[in-house]
Amino acid sequence: MKVHVDPERCQGHTLCAMVAPKSFELSDIDGHSSAVSEDVPPDQEEQVREAAQSCPERAITIT
Ligand code: F3S
Repeated sequence: MKVHVDPERCQGHTLCAMVAPKSFELSDIDGHSSAVSEDVPPDQEEQVREAAQSCPERAITIT
């Protein structure tokens, strides 16, 4: 499973990093999120799915 955060859509709501803190990191500069790793470890898949659903901007894509 792979995850991507669209930097154009992300508005820094931070929910992704609260739901899946191991998989998303927030920029100190603009507060926007990015994936720690494009490849999601199996033990993080559930949290990453929840994070994607939690994002109000639908900025997180899972493939
Ligand atoms: Fe951005 Fe959505 Fe996370 S707006 S900070 S990707 S909850």
